[in-house]
Amino acid sequence: MSLSDRPSVRLRPEIVALPAYKQGKPADASAFKLSSNENPFDPLPGVIAAANAETAYNRYPDASALALRERLAATFSVDVDQVHVGSGSVALLAQLILAAAGPGDEVLYSWRSFEAYPSLVTVAGATSVRVANRPDHGHDLPEMAAAIGDNTRVVIVCSPNNPTGTVVTKDEFEAFMAVVPADLLVILDEAYIEFVTDADAVAGPPLLERYPNLVVLRTFSKAYGLAGLRVGYALGPVEILNAARSTAIPLSVTAQAAAAALASLDAEKVLLDRVGIIAARRDATWQTLTAQGWNIPAPQGNFLWLPTGGETTSVAEALGEAGLVVRPFVPEGIRVSIGEEQSVAILLSISADLVDALPAGHPARQIG
Ligand SMILES: Cc1ncc(COP(=O)(O)O)c(C=O)c1O
Repeated sequence: MSLSDRPSVRLRPEIVALPAYKQGKPADASAFKLSSNENPFDPLPGVIAAANAETAYNRYPDASALALRERLAATFSVDVDQVHVGSGSVALLAQLILAAAGPGDEVLYSWRSFEAYPSLVTVAGATSVRVANRPDHGHDLPEMAAAIGDNTRVVIVCSPNNPTGTVVTKDEFEAFMAVVPADLLVILDEAYIEFVTDADAVAGPPLLERYPNLVVLRTFSKAYGLAGLRVGYALGPVEILNAARSTAIPLSVTAQAAAAALASLDAEKVLLDRVGIIAARRDATWQTLTAQGWNIPAPQGNFLWLPTGGETTSVAEALGEAGLVVRPFVPEGIRVSIGEEQSVAILLSISADLVDALPAGHPARQIG
C-alpha cells in the first residue's frame, strides 16, 4: 500500500477546509517586497548585539519574559502582571480567542480586516461574525454594536485597520464601549499604532483603567522592525491575561526576542525618527496618488489601500511587473506597504496610468 492509498485519519473538517495562512509574497532580489507591512529599516541600534549576547541556547528562556514585562509595565504605568508577552501579537490574539470563545460562541470583527482573524476563530471552534467596513473603509462601530448577541464572546477592533489603514476615533471607541456588555472581551489590535498621526485616533493604554473588559495588543514587528524575531505584548486586566497565559504554548518567546525587544525600547529616539520618516513618506505618497485621481482612504499605518475591486488582479500584476510585490485581496483591493524611498518612486511613476485605466465610475477613482 503506498502512502497516498492509506486511509486518512479523522481531522476536524473545519480545519481541513481552512486555507493555509498566506504570507505576503516573497520578492526576488530585483523587486521591492511591499506585501507584509514590514519595516524597511535595519534593526535599531544595539538590537543585534543584545540578541547575540543571549547565547545560552541549551537553556529554556524565561517563560514570562519578566525583564521585558517590567519595562513595559513601567512605560505604561501598569502592574507587571497586566503585561503579557507573546511570540508576536498574532499568538496573543490566538490565546485570547481560545480563552474566551469555543464551539457555539461568536467572535465579531469588521471586515475586511487582518486576514488572520477568521482562521484563529475557526481554530478555536468558534464562529466568525463579520460586519462590513463603512464605504469610507473604516469600522462601522454602531453596526458592530448592533451585531453583538447572546453568543458573542469576543469583539476585535483593529486601529489602524489592516489593510484599509483607517483609524477608529477615540469618540467612536468610547461610544462603542458604552454599549458593549461589561462581560464581553474587547480586543483593541494596535499593531500599527506608532505610525498614527491623527490626533483624534483612539489609543488603548489610557483607557484600560476605565474598561475592565478591554485588552490592548501591540507588537515589535512593525514600527520596531522585529518581525523576524516574533515578539508582541498584551496590556489588560490580570484575570483576562492569566486566561490567555493558560492557553499559550509555553516558552514560545525566545531569550533573543525578549532581549531585542528591550534593546529596541532603549533606542526610542531613533525609533521615533524612523517612524516619522515612514509616516511622512506615507502621507506624501497618499497626497500624490490623490492628486493623480485615486480615491483611497487617508492612511494611518505603514501601508496604503487601493480599493481596486474587480481590477485588483490586473493592477497587482502591473505593479509586480514594475518590481513591486504587493498584497492583492481579490476582489476588494491591494495593500501596498510603505517601504524604501525608491519603491515609492516606482509606484508613483506608474500609478497615474493605472488610475486612468480604471473604468469610469470605479470606486478607486475620484468622481469628476
Ligand atoms: C492588524 C495586525 N495585527 C496583528 C498582526 C500580527 O503581528 P505580529 O504577530 O507580527 O506581532 C498583524 C501583522 O501583520 C496585523 O496586521
